[in-house]
Amino acid sequence: MYNEINLDKIEIDAEPPIEEPARQYYFMAECREWVKNFEQRHGRLPKACVVNMGCQMNARDSEKLVGILEQCGYHMIDSEEADFVIYNTCTVRENANNKVYGRLGVLHGYQKKNPDMMIALCGCMMQEPSVVEKIKHSYPFVNLMFGTHNIYKFAELLYRAVTKRSSVVDVWEDTEKIVENLPSERKFWFKSGVNIMFGCNNFCSYCIVPYVRGRERSREPEDILREIEALAADGVVEVMLLGQNVNSYGKNLARPVTFAQLLKRVEQIEGIRRIRFMTSHPKDLSEELIEVMKQSDKICKHLHLPLQSGSSEILKKMNRRYTKEQYLELVEKLRAAIPDIAVTTDIIVGFPGETEEDFEETMDVVLKAQYDRAFTFIYSKRTGTPAAEMENQVPQDEVKRRFDRLLKEVQRIAAKKAMVYKDTVQKVLVEQMNEQDNQFVTGRLDNNSVVHLKGTSDLIGQIVDVRLTECRGFYYLGEVL
Ligand code: SAH
Ligand code: SF4
Ligand code: F3S
Repeated sequence: MYNEINLDKIEIDAEPPIEEPARQYYFMAECREWVKNFEQRHGRLPKACVVNMGCQMNARDSEKLVGILEQCGYHMIDSEEADFVIYNTCTVRENANNKVYGRLGVLHGYQKKNPDMMIALCGCMMQEPSVVEKIKHSYPFVNLMFGTHNIYKFAELLYRAVTKRSSVVDVWEDTEKIVENLPSERKFWFKSGVNIMFGCNNFCSYCIVPYVRGRERSREPEDILREIEALAADGVVEVMLLGQNVNSYGKNLARPVTFAQLLKRVEQIEGIRRIRFMTSHPKDLSEELIEVMKQSDKICKHLHLPLQSGSSEILKKMNRRYTKEQYLELVEKLRAAIPDIAVTTDIIVGFPGETEEDFEETMDVVLKAQYDRAFTFIYSKRTGTPAAEMENQVPQDEVKRRFDRLLKEVQRIAAKKAMVYKDTVQKVLVEQMNEQDNQFVTGRLDNNSVVHLKGTSDLIGQIVDVRLTECRGFYYLGEVL
């Protein structure tokens, strides 16, 4: 793996290699020379800050950016008053975009105080040509922009940006390529996200992800297993397998493999004690997967199963390819097979043409499915998606009213469901110091619920038995036994 590559042995006076990832290691070595030079000029290392703005997939990409910056010699900090700041953007809803524009103004202020400062943007927003144009025109102080398909080229682009001192823009429309074995720096030493596939082929009519992440591509199972084995050897106990639709993993490989088969192989890796995955599309959830989850004591008893809408009519317009009845049947089947499974979901309110009756159907599913947690979103029009062209956009005040009603109901049910575990003893993976009180640490149950307990930093990374003494709606207080 990458750790064995010694940057000192790379001949930076020679031509850069053509093949990957060797080419990127060459540019890391080049950047490292540049960093040494910076250190001589300033008497300190350059400081860099990576800001993640998107989903778990983006979070994993951000770890790769940090890994590369560290290899180059940058000193990583959390503050955006740095010498190099990169925003890894999300564009799934309009407000994600607005946040970036707002914060760019603040960054510009820092850059005026520190003329050496470089500002970079990458991630999903950059895959929209209109965004790149707007930034070039209205925010010309941005030094580097690249997209989701060529993130593996970060070292090369960084080198071009620091040496050229003029704006570098490199965005690809799509790619077939998956480059393995690049550095990455985990945010948590004991748990890690692992990409099993990239892109999405589902084209739900409201969603921009297939346009900005490209076509579905699965990694070879051997590459995934090798990565997880290396993580386990490095102390990782929990992995989260990542993909926009993990249930269709492996279908397009030269030697097809199902997601359930992959899970079975991941389970055999010694040292891994918890396996999670995100996200499951209801249309592709197989009996085989339910069976594997049922048999396993490593796969967490949690399934995130986005509903989006409870109305079959709206589901059809959303191109989700299941009906209300099929969805409910699936939840029933899951609960029958694995009684203590936590089911969570995503719901969109105010999709074009959503009537009061359609909304009542969503409320009905919420009541019947009894979600342990639900993420609720107000529909956001994304230019370029089929839904953006649909008529009958729902008036904002109506959407807000429905949204508030839905939120109240999902919160009521989630609180009721959480109460069931009060006074029981559960396994908790302790993840971090409590953000409010340093006498406490915070961890997660198998079903992903958050628990705060009295304890010190030495518990971090351990799985401990905890009595849940109090339930406060969304989280628990507990005591280590
Ligand atoms: N691949 C995942 C979801 C990725 S996006 C899946 O299919 O489940 C995460 C969530 O954002 C989606 O589940 C959806 O609820 C929400 N979302 C996506 N596009 C949206 C839009 N245009 N407006 C509001 N919410 C949206
Ligand atoms: Fe978007 Fe649908 Fe793909 Fe999820 S499955 S990323 S909601 S298009
Ligand atoms: Fe956002 Fe891109 Fe993830 S649009 S939700 S960061 S795949």
